[in-house]
Amino acid sequence: VTRAGGQLRQRYREARRDPHLAVLEGFHALKHALRFGAEILDVRTVDAAALLALAADLAPELAEPLAGMARPVDAGAFAGLAPAAHPTGVIAIAARPVVDVEQALAATGPDPIVLLDRPTHHGNMGAVVRVAAAAGAAAVLTTGPHDPWHASSIRGGAGLQFALPVARIEALPETDRPVVAIDPAGAPLPGAEVPPRAVLVFGSERRGVGEDLLERTLLRLAIPMRPRVSSLNLASAVAVVLYWGPRGGG
Ligand SMILES: C[S@@+](CC[C@H](N)C(=O)[O-])C[C@H]1O[C@@H](n2cnc3c(N)ncnc32)[C@H](O)[C@@H]1O
Repeated sequence: VTRAGGQLRQRYREARRDPHLAVLEGFHALKHALRFGAEILDVRTVDAAALLALAADLAPELAEPLAGMARPVDAGAFAGLAPAAHPTGVIAIAARPVVDVEQALAATGPDPIVLLDRPTHHGNMGAVVRVAAAAGAAAVLTTGPHDPWHASSIRGGAGLQFALPVARIEALPETDRPVVAIDPAGAPLPGAEVPPRAVLVFGSERRGVGEDLLERTLLRLAIPMRPRVSSLNLASAVAVVLYWGPRGGG
């Protein structure tokens, strides 16, 4: 490894641990970061021509800015920048936006906030951010030690962390929003009315919604399942509720 290669590797390693930075692995993460106004600090590619061809195909508006910012790196050095090199041959560092949780909670529009209670899988958390961004949720908040801005979460979220407020919090602050638990033991979602501005609380992959949050809920709603099926995947459950629940589509 050359001295410059070693320094670059060190820079990416430190960026992964820096709460002010985000590592974007792959084209889709970089594409959405750019579309939603991220401040991009570094872009490396193993194949600039392939990157620009991908941009021309999938995001033509980004081809020119990308051509200006992508710096070449050889395959060996690229492999050292991520635990699993992304097949699109591009990786980047961006500044994380500062998220104001109180402001997100105070937003007066009808869109719900998704709260994940101690999720344990970064890829799953990313999948939640992705569907929340697509469905127009007001924010995604998470409790527990896992970071929704971890590089694996960003990969799972295709970089849509930049599209809406996404933050890890210690606990849900006092809020005037109705708190609704999404829980297999709740009342059936079809026919129930999910209030506007709800904080929709989803439990962890193993433990479900914690007692502390269940005590604060106005409603507890379940997605109907065929007998003998114990639960849906966390991100699948979020998708069902965001697209079906608040609009009363059932
Ligand atoms: C994999 S599930 C957790 C299952 C956990 N063993 C339990 O009993 O709650 C993760 C989260 O997805 C949501 N979920 C999954 N399937 C659901 C269903 N059929 N109805 C309501 N929520 C569901 C809940 O928020 C749940 O806490």
